[in-house]
Amino acid sequence: MCGIIGYVGPGPATPRILSGLQRLDYRGYDSAGVVVLDGDRIRVEKMPGKLDHLLDHLKKMPAMNGCVGLGHTRWATHGGPTQRNAHPHLSHRATVAVVHNGIIENHEELRRRLRKRGYRFASETDTEVIAHLVEDHYRGDPLEAVRRAINQLDGSFAIGALFRDHPDVLIGARLNSPLLVGYGEGANYLASDAPAVLPFTRKVAYLEDRELAEIRPGGIRVIDAGGRPRDPKVIDITWDFASAAKEGYPHFMLKEVYEQPRALADTIRGRTNRQHLHFPELEIPARRLRAAKRVTIVACGTAAHAGMTAKYAFEELARIPTEVVLASEFRYGDPVIGRDTLAIAVTQSGETMDTLCAIRAAKEHGALALAVCNVVGSSIPRACDGTVYTHAGPEIGVASTKAYTTQIAVLELLAIRLGMIRGTLTREAARPLLRAMERVPAAVEKALECDGGVAKLARKYAGSRNFMYIGRRYNFPNAYEGALKLKELSYIHAEGYGAGEMKHGPLALVDDTFPTVAVCTKGRAYDKILSNMKEIEARGGILIAVANPRDAKVRALARHVVEVPQTIEMVSPMVTVVPLQLLAYHIAVTLGRDVDKPRNLAKAVTVE
Ligand code: F6R
Repeated sequence: MCGIIGYVGPGPATPRILSGLQRLDYRGYDSAGVVVLDGDRIRVEKMPGKLDHLLDHLKKMPAMNGCVGLGHTRWATHGGPTQRNAHPHLSHRATVAVVHNGIIENHEELRRRLRKRGYRFASETDTEVIAHLVEDHYRGDPLEAVRRAINQLDGSFAIGALFRDHPDVLIGARLNSPLLVGYGEGANYLASDAPAVLPFTRKVAYLEDRELAEIRPGGIRVIDAGGRPRDPKVIDITWDFASAAKEGYPHFMLKEVYEQPRALADTIRGRTNRQHLHFPELEIPARRLRAAKRVTIVACGTAAHAGMTAKYAFEELARIPTEVVLASEFRYGDPVIGRDTLAIAVTQSGETMDTLCAIRAAKEHGALALAVCNVVGSSIPRACDGTVYTHAGPEIGVASTKAYTTQIAVLELLAIRLGMIRGTLTREAARPLLRAMERVPAAVEKALECDGGVAKLARKYAGSRNFMYIGRRYNFPNAYEGALKLKELSYIHAEGYGAGEMKHGPLALVDDTFPTVAVCTKGRAYDKILSNMKEIEARGGILIAVANPRDAKVRALARHVVEVPQTIEMVSPMVTVVPLQLLAYHIAVTLGRDVDKPRNLAKAVTVE
C-alpha cells in the first residue's frame, strides 16, 4: 500500500511531486523519495521516515530541476524501512528509475537470474528487481521494455518508470494494485490514487490489470500486455480530497473492510501454491520450530482474538499445546515458559507496549520469539527472532478489520507449516487446506454482498441497549471480536460468549428486547450451536444468525439470517467476521458515532 505520483510536462516536476506526496501519506509513511531527470542525469533523493524528513533533506540539497519525475511514499513489505530500501530504485547502470506499489512474488527467482547476468543489487526490495529487469529489456523503446518486464512478474504491482534517455516520457503499468493516469493541460500525470492529482486535474483514467501507459506532455497512450492499443475510460473525479483518500467510502473503516479480499490475497498468495507453503522472510530454521514443545501467543484486543482462533489450528494440525495470553496479563503472572516454547506476538502496529513487554519477557525466559505483524521494521518484529508479515497495508480506522483477518490467515498458514515440519500433517492432508486458504479472498468478496441487508438490520436494532454474540470452536473468538467491534464503535454494551456457556449463566439476560448474534456456519459443533440457539429462541430472544446459504435449520430458528459462503471450518472466521464488522459499522453510523476515531481510543497503544 505505497503511494505513487508522477508528472511529465513543461514545468518543474519536483514541487508537483512533493505536493502529490503530501496527499498520499495515508498510503504509507516508512520512507519517501523523489526522482527527476535533471539534465542528462537521473537524480534520486530519498529518506526513511515521514515525508517531512525528505522535505527537510531537500532544503539542504541543490534544487532538483527537471520536467519529468516520480515520487513515492512507502509502506514496507520486502526489506525494512531504511534509506537503502526507500523508493525510487535505480537500475544497475542508472538508466531507469522505478517506483512500485505491491508485492513481486517471484522476485527471488528473478534476482538470481539477474545476478547471473551481472546485475548488482543495492537494496533488499522486490522493486529493485523491476528496475534491473526493465533495463535488461531496454532497446530504445521505454514502453516495450516495461511491457516485456511485466510479462515476467508475478504478484501485484503498480509501477512508475522514467528513463535517462527520454526526458518527456513516463511509463506506468499495473496488476492487482490501483494506478491511474491524469490528463492535465499540456502536462500529464500518473498516480496510485486520485487525491495525489486532484490539485492539478480531475480528469483521470484508471488502468486495468496488465495495462501499460506511456505518458507524454502531449498525450497518453495505453496498451495491454500483448502490445495491443486500449481505449481507457476517462472519468471526472467529483470527490473532494477527504472522500478521494477514502476512495469514495464515507469512512476509512468501511474502505478497509472492503479491502479485505485484496489484503488476504496479498497475504496468502506467494506463500502457498497448492503443494507448497513457504515464508521466505521467516528467518527461523525449521529445526528450531520443530524443537518447540508448546506455543504461547501474546497479544491484545482484536489481535488476541486472532490468536485465539489460531489456537484451534495449532492444536488440530500441529498437535502442539497452545495457550493464548493477554499481553497485559502475561508479565504479571508466572508464565511457564522456557527454551522449548515458541512465543508468538500478534500485532497490527508492532508498537503495542503490552505486547512488546510480553514478548521481551518471553525471550528472557528463553523462548523462541516470532512476530506476526503488519508494520515492517516496527518495535515488536525488531525484538523477535523472526517475523511473518500480514500484507494488509496501512490500517487507519482505529477499529481493526483487515489486520484481523490477515492475522488469522498468517497464523493458520503457520499452523499448517508447523504441522508439516512436525510430521503431524502430511503433504496430502495439507493440500486441501492450502486450497481452502487460496479461496478465502473470493469467499470474503462474496460475503461483502451482505452489506445492504446488514445495514437494514443495523437501523432496526441500533436502539438496543445490549447485544450478545455467540460462536463455537474456530468461530468462538469471533463472538468476542463481534462484541468488541460493536462496543468500541457504537458504545453499546455487548458481550461475546462461547455458545455452550449460555446455559451456565448469561441465558438469564435473554428476553424479547435482547438481540443475540449467532455465528452458526457448518463445522464440527454445528448441531451443538443449533441447540444453544434453541435455548435462546425458547426464551423469546431475538436471534440474528450468520449462516451458510439455504440453511433450513437455521432459518427455522433465527429471526434474521445473514448468509456467507460455506468454507472449511478452519478458514471460516475470516468470512463470518465480515457481517459482524459491517453490523458494528452501520450501527455506529446510525447512532452518529465517530467511526474512524471512537472516543477514548488510539490506533497504537504505546503505553502500558
Ligand atoms: C480493536 C483494536 C485493538 C487492537 C489492540 C492491539 O479494534 O484495534 O483491540 O487490536 O490494541 O493492537 P496491535 O494489533 O496494534 O498490537
